[in-house]
Amino acid sequence: MSTRALVVGNWKMNLDFVEALHLTQQLGVLLRHRPLEHVDVVVAPPFVDLRTVSSVIESERLPIALAAQHVSEHRAGPFTGEVSVAMLQRLTVAAVIVGHSERRAHYAMDDDVVARTVRAVTANGLDAIVCVGEDGDVRDAGHHVTFVAEQLRRALGAGTESHRARVCVAYEPVWAIGRGTSATAEQVREMSRAIREVLVSLNLGDARVLYGGSVNGENASTLLRDGEVQGFLVGGASLRAESFVAILRASDDCYARKR
Ligand code: PGA
Repeated sequence: MSTRALVVGNWKMNLDFVEALHLTQQLGVLLRHRPLEHVDVVVAPPFVDLRTVSSVIESERLPIALAAQHVSEHRAGPFTGEVSVAMLQRLTVAAVIVGHSERRAHYAMDDDVVARTVRAVTANGLDAIVCVGEDGDVRDAGHHVTFVAEQLRRALGAGTESHRARVCVAYEPVWAIGRGTSATAEQVREMSRAIREVLVSLNLGDARVLYGGSVNGENASTLLRDGEVQGFLVGGASLRAESFVAILRASDDCYARKR
């Protein structure tokens, strides 16, 4: 099990490249002021911001890695509007969020596409942050654990050797995303344990399991500790340096106490 937390800021379709530049610089100032010891920090800006954010990270030597919010499963060719893994690599992108519930809902990304995309990402040496999570109806019906376990098996089951050490899983219940109220630590723990079982059965027991859905500086410690996750995928609270850093610090403190 990883000795470091992983916290990923998913900026979604927010912040143009000038705003992205400012946010990255602000994060740099806060992180330099008090460096983190136990947290891997990742930000996932919109495609058009990647080059700018990458330049700031490099020139200021910031302890932040870059992720993309999506990538094509294809290598190149007639796929208007898409971006390839190789293009991301050239921009020093280290990881890709795959199968976010918003891509699944609005862009018909089904489990097969998710599985092929995860393979394209890991086979080319990037990390895949694989998103799973049930909607409110599935939870109300009491099928959430089997639903998420199945999503995970479909996404990772046909995996190759390249998956190992290159995959992490983000459990994001759709009903908790952007709502201001997260899942409870008990709900997160039930799912993180189920996810861990599936990961072990797929020989991916070392993968980190993240939680996402209305994480903020106040609920981060409890979710991390009692939810038995190893980090977060953060949406809204990652759009301001102070609120994102509050989550990073809470995670850092939790991991410091574990040692
Ligand atoms: P939220 O989004 O933190 O705004 O709920 C999380 C996500 O969708 O990744």
